[in-house]
Amino acid sequence: MHQLKSEQEKKEFNAVLEPYLSHPKIREMDQYNAHGSVSVLEHSMNVAAMAYRLDRLFGKKADLEVLLPGALLHDFYLYDWHDKPLSIRIFRMHGYTHPSEACRNAAEIFQADEKTQEVIRCHMWPLTLRSIPRHREAILVCIADKLCALTETLKR
Ligand SMILES: [Fe+2]
Ligand SMILES: [Fe+2]
Repeated sequence: MHQLKSEQEKKEFNAVLEPYLSHPKIREMDQYNAHGSVSVLEHSMNVAAMAYRLDRLFGKKADLEVLLPGALLHDFYLYDWHDKPLSIRIFRMHGYTHPSEACRNAAEIFQADEKTQEVIRCHMWPLTLRSIPRHREAILVCIADKLCALTETLKR
């Protein structure tokens, strides 16, 4: 969460995400690896902080109640794709299927609204060709996810 510069930013950021962070299903994301030794929860928090920073840089126009939960829940698929049985098949499919799994979980567990669901569904674009991020929040999370995945992978 090194991207957050000031106390004011941290306060604003935490105010939106705090209600989510104590939920057992959010904590469960800490058990699964995203990239290298970075857990899915850590990765998701990095993406949320990066998306928030990018929005601050480009005019502060995002709806934070969509941007931050969308970022936190973008990989809310709740399994470890590294250790699945039939690993090769799952490994290949994971990139295409996990946005819709995360989206379903976000809707079921947190009643994510349609705009937040779109953030989650479109974050893997262009891999998921037809799920194109069309609004600001979805575009920011799509970019932040790629930047964080790259940084986390290079760091290991
Ligand atoms: Fe993802
Ligand atoms: Fe991700």
